[in-house]
Amino acid sequence: MRLSPALAYGCRYRTPPLKLLLTFTLLPHRYHRHHRLTVSAPLLPTTLSLSSQPPNPNFFTGNSLFFRMEGDLQRFWSGNSINKNKAMVEHLKTYGVITSKKVAEVLESIDRALFVPDGNAPYYDSPVPIGYNATISAPHMHATCLQLLEENLQPGMHALDVGSGTGYLTACFALMVGPQGRAVGVEHIPELVSSSVLNIQKSAAAPLLKEGSLSVHVGDGRLGWPEHAPYDAIHVGAAAPEIPQALIDQLKPGGRLVIPVGSVFQDLKVIDKNMDGSLSIRSETSVRYVPLTSRDAQLRGA
Ligand SMILES: C[S@@+](CC[C@H](N)C(=O)[O-])C[C@H]1O[C@@H](n2cnc3c(N)ncnc32)[C@H](O)[C@@H]1O
Repeated sequence: MRLSPALAYGCRYRTPPLKLLLTFTLLPHRYHRHHRLTVSAPLLPTTLSLSSQPPNPNFFTGNSLFFRMEGDLQRFWSGNSINKNKAMVEHLKTYGVITSKKVAEVLESIDRALFVPDGNAPYYDSPVPIGYNATISAPHMHATCLQLLEENLQPGMHALDVGSGTGYLTACFALMVGPQGRAVGVEHIPELVSSSVLNIQKSAAAPLLKEGSLSVHVGDGRLGWPEHAPYDAIHVGAAAPEIPQALIDQLKPGGRLVIPVGSVFQDLKVIDKNMDGSLSIRSETSVRYVPLTSRDAQLRGA
């Protein structure tokens, strides 16, 4: 049995009937934790919210399957695991989050630890704070977005990653489109752009950065990055109040845009530009992202 997005969404903030809760735990990809974390916020909340009020941003409900998964990971790694990044990918496959061979290969190639600030658990399926009121997204969210965009990340294609943060997903895009393609990251915090370049230089995507098919830029991602448009794939890593027109304009006919839309209540929207220029829009799932906003508003935490 599959849950509708509306039902899955309701499960996030209210106590669902036990039957629904059990069903929900079978569908890890229908629930995405991807929220802004404050320093004091627990990375792994331990109970469900019982309130019917809007959620306390420091106390998000969780999917018990993910807690079980993280417990499994701990057990798995308590031995002498030699490749924890590979183990993370294996678990995302086991729990049905990753179904694509290509996406699994790319996630295995780019070690998430190179992009997660020191002192954090890089392979936990959780977002991690990276400073400036931003996070690196949770692994299941990266995997989901890569899979949604896979057809539009074929070798030679152009991809834009708005809100590129640590550079992790931009690096994954670069591996997918290869040296004949182009992967562009746009991030409005200059310090994050600088550190993302250092991260990428340590990763399997370093040669692509060096030769220029991968680049990261300081800019307001709401305006896209016209220089390398049109794009076959556009990903936005922060939630927009509405879909920015510049991103629609920079999408190629046949291209796909994946973007979280909303404020407190957000949907991950999948927008396909048809060959006649019309748009097909659907909601993939309910999510929780930091806002796509101005630099000042983000730094103020507004
Ligand atoms: C949830 S983080 C995701 C980062 C990246 N996907 C990752 O996993 O490392 C969202 C990012 O969007 C950036 N951002 C927010 N508004 C932006 C804007 N208007 N232009 C460019 N970047 C923006 C934030 O600074 C932050 O780095």
